[in-house]
Amino acid sequence: MATTEPTTPTPAPLAADGTVHVGSDAAREWWRDAVIYQVYPRSFADGDGDGIGDIPGITSRLDHLKTLGVDAVWLSPFYRSPQKDAGYDVADYRDVDPLFGTLADFDAMLAGAHDRGMRVIVDLVPNHTSDQHAWFQEALAAGPGSAARERYMFRDGRGPDGTEPPNNWQSIFGGAAWTRVDDGQWYLHLFDASQPDLDWNHPEVRAEFEDVLRFWLDKGVDGFRIDVAHGMVKADGLPDWHGHVSMVEGSATEDDQPVDPGAPEDGSTGAGNQGPMFDQDGVHEIYRSWHRVLAEYDGDRCLVAEAWVEPLSRLARYVRPDEMHQAFNFSFLTTAWDAAALRRVIAASYRANDEVGAPTTWVLSNHDVVRHATRLGLPEVGVRPNGVFATDPQPDEALGLRRARAASLLMLGMPGSAYLYQGEELGLPEHTTLPNEVRQDPGHFRTGGAEAGRDGCRVPLPWEADAPGYGFGPTGKTWLPQPESYERYAADVQYGVAGSTFELYRAALATRSTEGLGHGGLTWLEAWSDAPDVVAFVNRGVAVVANLGSTPVPLPGTEVLLASGDLDDGAIPADTTVWLRA
Ligand code: NOJ
Repeated sequence: MATTEPTTPTPAPLAADGTVHVGSDAAREWWRDAVIYQVYPRSFADGDGDGIGDIPGITSRLDHLKTLGVDAVWLSPFYRSPQKDAGYDVADYRDVDPLFGTLADFDAMLAGAHDRGMRVIVDLVPNHTSDQHAWFQEALAAGPGSAARERYMFRDGRGPDGTEPPNNWQSIFGGAAWTRVDDGQWYLHLFDASQPDLDWNHPEVRAEFEDVLRFWLDKGVDGFRIDVAHGMVKADGLPDWHGHVSMVEGSATEDDQPVDPGAPEDGSTGAGNQGPMFDQDGVHEIYRSWHRVLAEYDGDRCLVAEAWVEPLSRLARYVRPDEMHQAFNFSFLTTAWDAAALRRVIAASYRANDEVGAPTTWVLSNHDVVRHATRLGLPEVGVRPNGVFATDPQPDEALGLRRARAASLLMLGMPGSAYLYQGEELGLPEHTTLPNEVRQDPGHFRTGGAEAGRDGCRVPLPWEADAPGYGFGPTGKTWLPQPESYERYAADVQYGVAGSTFELYRAALATRSTEGLGHGGLTWLEAWSDAPDVVAFVNRGVAVVANLGSTPVPLPGTEVLLASGDLDDGAIPADTTVWLRA
């Protein structure tokens, strides 16, 4: 696909009135306002009937994505892997795991997406490899002091016999971040013991990943989502850290190393990981070199950062003009259902990104967090648990769905790019009553079962209400059990049905595109700029009004374009978002 000219972004002017972002009709790269759909391959669609989704399954459902109207698809990892962390433990970066198909299946899927005008982004996992990767096996065999060990973070232990880990770091999945091997040395793993961290100071590591980028770019992929983009470089000397480490609540500190995670005015929610293993300045040089690699190819290829970094001004450093192109806005994802907090994070996001000329990248759900249709229906609003147990207080399903539809319509009304997580277009809730025996997330096991983990948002999708396994695959097998409620959410009972969540998303994406909302501006509607329960703004002649409170709000116009729920006698009822002609 052709490259858009000009490619140099001009920072938008910062306005002093209620305008927080100024739109532009100038030629722009496709990713600046794209709606991108995350496919989690093992749970999207199963082509061969083994109960695990695969690449032929994705190909068979591309028309669903085309009908929905997304611009691009991001695929979570499908590479050769022992699947200790559902593929985020890569043993061979240049091959497809037989579980998911073959390289030829990948090529066919890519061609199918391109034929339909959709781009494809793949996942790159550079912070760590699988312990089954040839490099790690070589390092184990070669022993202490060998060149092969230098590609990873091997160290001698502390204490008289080296029996204590080299420092006190904890794994994000729980337990120590170090594992001792038979010869007595320890290796670092910020995640599972099967995911040893690479040493990014090593030139061979850098060269290898540039080559991996080229391998997939040559195949024709349109970009990469970079896993743990804020973790690859660690502070010199690997100093002890006494803060708390967790994937979605990184900033709480416990004792002697208080940090400044950013103030609420910065839009911070506590979503930023802190400590000497995260957000080190050295990561940026890596992204500059990758930017140069991508720039050699046509078609505006892009890099999107998975970086749990706050405040937003710090996150914006990842999307400076010569680095990555997008960074997921996790401060937005983790904001409570609260109008003032949402206004703060939205304004802070544009402030930070406009400074560097990058688009904001909105997201509400992914494969690591509780689905927003459930999160927003939990009894304690604003809490973001790492999974929900059957014994936990259960969500209010109807309330969660209502708010999720309102939240999505709010998100899709804003300028910038937006990511959707598979199933959210169906209003799919989390599976909150999974039996513990079927859980597979390493985070569940490494916390000794204290955390439910992420399996509940990874349950195979329901495609057909009346088919076994709700049409996930030809045999009815599913690698995780689906809740009975999925019958009501199946895609086939929503297609063409007015008011269904699928049709709401489809209409929102179509209107967003025809009205140019993705590259529009955002000005608060004055009447509600301080309202305790309403978020309201204008984007290119479309007013977006979200009522988060319980009292109906009068419609500020007559021409309603879209509503996330039924209107109440000319008013916007609780937990509802409306798009109107301004
Ligand atoms: C972030 C990914 O999204 C998550 O699923 C994975 O477990 C970790 N990185 C480790 O790769």
